[in-house]
Amino acid sequence: RPRVLSGIQPTADSFHFGNYLGALRQWIALQDEYDAYYCIVDLHAITMEHDPDTLRERTYRSAAQLIALGIDVSKSALFVQSHVPEHAQLAWVLSCITGFGEASRMTQFKDKSAKGGTERATVGLFTYPVLQAADILLYNADRVPVGEDQRQHLELTRDLAGRFNHRFGDTFRLPAPHIVAQTAKIVDLQDPTIKMSKSASSPAGIVDLLDDPKRSAKKIRSAVTDSGTEIRFDEENKPGVSNLLTIYSTLTGRAVADLEQAYADKGYGHLKVDLADIVVDAVTPIRERTSELLADRAELDRMLAAGARKARDVAADTLAEVYRRVGFVGRVR
Ligand code: TYM
Repeated sequence: RPRVLSGIQPTADSFHFGNYLGALRQWIALQDEYDAYYCIVDLHAITMEHDPDTLRERTYRSAAQLIALGIDVSKSALFVQSHVPEHAQLAWVLSCITGFGEASRMTQFKDKSAKGGTERATVGLFTYPVLQAADILLYNADRVPVGEDQRQHLELTRDLAGRFNHRFGDTFRLPAPHIVAQTAKIVDLQDPTIKMSKSASSPAGIVDLLDDPKRSAKKIRSAVTDSGTEIRFDEENKPGVSNLLTIYSTLTGRAVADLEQAYADKGYGHLKVDLADIVVDAVTPIRERTSELLADRAELDRMLAAGARKARDVAADTLAEVYRRVGFVGRVR
C-alpha cells in the first residue's frame, strides 16, 4: 500500500481551523487507503523558546485532539517524533547534503527569525526543514498532506531525496505534496489577507478546536468581510466572505456554488449566524472527546507507544540503509 506521512507541532493548547481544515481532515481521509504515519513533532517544537511542562501537556493534548478528530490508532501509526530517534539521526545525514544557501532561502525560517534577527535565531530553527525532510523520507512517504505554507519545505525534501539518490544510489522515494486547493490557506477572521496562524493572528482571528464553542460562534459572527453585500466566492476581492464559504462548505460537504445560490438574497449576517451554528455543532463533540481522552494519560501513553513501535520498524530499516549507503561501517553485535 502507498504511504502517507504528516506532522504537526504541539505548540499550542489547541489546534485551530487552519490546521484542521487545511491538513488534519486530509490526514483522516487518507488513512483508509494509505499506510499512514502521523507524527507529533516535538523536536520541531523546541526550535523556538518553550516551557518544558507546557510542551509535555501540549503533546498529550495534540494526541488527544488527533484521536478525537478521527485518527484511528488501529489503522494509522500515531506517534511522538522524539520516541523515534531515527528522525534526528537521518536529519544529521541530510544536513550534510543541504546547502547553507539552500537552507537560508526557506521563507518560514526568514519569517520566524525576523523578530529577533538571524543573530538570535537558533541553529535548530535554521535546520528545521532538514528535520522535516527526515520525517518524510524515513517512511518513504508517497504523499504528504499539508497546507500551502509547507510547500517550500516539501520541495526541499524532494531536492534532498533526489540528491541523496544521485550521490549514493536509489534509496528514497520522492514524496508528493497533498495540498487540497480549497482549504490550503484558511485565513484569519479579522484580517483575511493573512493566513490563520498562532504566531500572526490575534485571538479574535483564530477559531480553536478546543475553545468554548460560544466564543468560537462569536468569532465567526464578528468575522471581517467587506463593504459589499453579495455572498460570492471571490478570494481576490472578497477574501473574508470566501473564507467563510470555504469553512461552511468543508464542514457541511455542500458545494460553494450551492451555498452562493442558497444565500443569493441574504445578507452577510445571515451567513455568519448559520455558520456559527455549524461550527458549534462541529467542535462540540471534538472538544468533549478530547477531554475524555485526556482524562486517561496511561491509555494515551499506550497508544503512542504502539504508534512509535510501528513507526520504528520502518524508520530503523531506512536509517540502516542510509548508513550503509554513505559508507558507515556496520556495528557488529
Ligand atoms: P504546523 O504545525 O504549523 O501546522 C500543521 C498543519 O496545518 C497546516 N496549516 C494550515 N493549512 C491551511 N490554512 C492555514 N491557515 C494553516 N495553518 C496551518 C500546515 O500547513 C500543516 O500541514 N513544519 C510543519 C510540521 C511538520 C511536518 C513534518 C509536516 C514537521 N514535520 C513532516 C509534514 C511532514 C508545521 O510546522 O506544521
